[in-house]
Amino acid sequence: MIKVSPSVLSANFAELGNAVKEMKNNGADYLHFDVMDGNFVPNISFGFPILADVRKITDMVIDVHLMIDRPIRYVEQFCDAGADIVNIHVEADTEENNLKALELIRGKGKRAGVTVKPNTPAQAILPYLHLCDLILVMTVEPGFGGQSFMDHMMPKVAQIRQYIKEQQPQCELQVDGGVSTVTAPTCVANGADVLVVGSAYFNAQDPKSYVATLHSM
Ligand code: DX5
Ligand code: ZN
Repeated sequence: MIKVSPSVLSANFAELGNAVKEMKNNGADYLHFDVMDGNFVPNISFGFPILADVRKITDMVIDVHLMIDRPIRYVEQFCDAGADIVNIHVEADTEENNLKALELIRGKGKRAGVTVKPNTPAQAILPYLHLCDLILVMTVEPGFGGQSFMDHMMPKVAQIRQYIKEQQPQCELQVDGGVSTVTAPTCVANGADVLVVGSAYFNAQDPKSYVATLHSM
């Protein structure tokens, strides 16, 4: 079944605890936690203390998307703060350091992943695929919620699905950015099996049935 990972970036942070508890009640599979450092992307979000507090109130799978430079510096700390999945951008450091970062995440007994920005080709994930439990294809430029979905990323999703099938079949394939019940069908048709939804989930009249609709795609 398709998995749904609501992004807390679009939550009202004054009500974060309730939003997290509702996600579980609404049937979400993962909780997507977007970390931004103001360098790798032109925005700053949140980090360790908030992750640790979220960890205390939920048993959901926490899916951490690190939009930070040189993530090798911090991946173990994110594991210790409560991440279940730690996802780094291939563009954020050298191949050597990114490989080490993935090994550090796995060494902590957590799931590891890599993300590609819109201008990064599918092949960029190949050096890392053997160490990955999740690949994330950005369908917007990372940095902000509420942007328009980039339909032209779909051939890349299909190409990466093919790589996964051939080389790392248990690896999941996630899309993030502008995903909604309107844009999800093409993502799923091209091979995505985990859908990140930020604004579409938080703006939904009935988030529980919204999640159910995405699950059925
Ligand atoms: C953007 C983040 C996304 C964001 C998605 O850089 O990685 O996870 O929260 O928000 P929507 O679904 O509104 O595009
Ligand atoms: Zn994200």
